[in-house]
Amino acid sequence: MQETLEKTRAMVHHLAAVNEILEKNGNDPSRLIPILQEVQEVYKYLSKDVISYVATSLDVPVAHVYGVATFYAHFSLNPKGKHIFRLCDGTACHVKKSMGLLEAIYKKLGLSDEKRTTDDLLFTVEIVNCLGACGLAPVIVVDGEVHGQATPEQVEKIIDEITAAAPKPPPRNPKTSNEGNHIR
Ligand code: FES
Repeated sequence: MQETLEKTRAMVHHLAAVNEILEKNGNDPSRLIPILQEVQEVYKYLSKDVISYVATSLDVPVAHVYGVATFYAHFSLNPKGKHIFRLCDGTACHVKKSMGLLEAIYKKLGLSDEKRTTDDLLFTVEIVNCLGACGLAPVIVVDGEVHGQATPEQVEKIIDEITAAAPKPPPRNPKTSNEGNHIR
């Protein structure tokens, strides 16, 4: 019950932000791409619910919105982490061992080629092509900030700093928790 309530609240919050974006774009179907871009900027990805809602609001088939969302590599249908690591694997960065950086990130965060976002949605790793800064190879961009001649140690330090600054889930209060209590 509580879980359903939480889900409903989350959905209402989602739709309020989507409504704002739709209104700003005049509910104009020809502005579908900028609408999806703005929605993704807010949520970091396009959920099934949001895609259906955008389609209904613009009075276009859901399949059309899916088609656009899957055609452009820029759009993601899977949740992304709050902090995005974009690792360049262009030729210059590859030669300078960009894959060593990737391995260090995977190991530190428990990620792999199949799983590029942490379960707590704090980190996502993406592999991109040449970022145009080959002189600084290997290059990694963390939340928009370019780090050149990056080493595994540097990247691990960045991860540690982000993790340390991230808000921790509140500790459970044993006085208010009924877990393990028996009502007589
Ligand atoms: S190959 Fe990485 S910046 Fe060009």
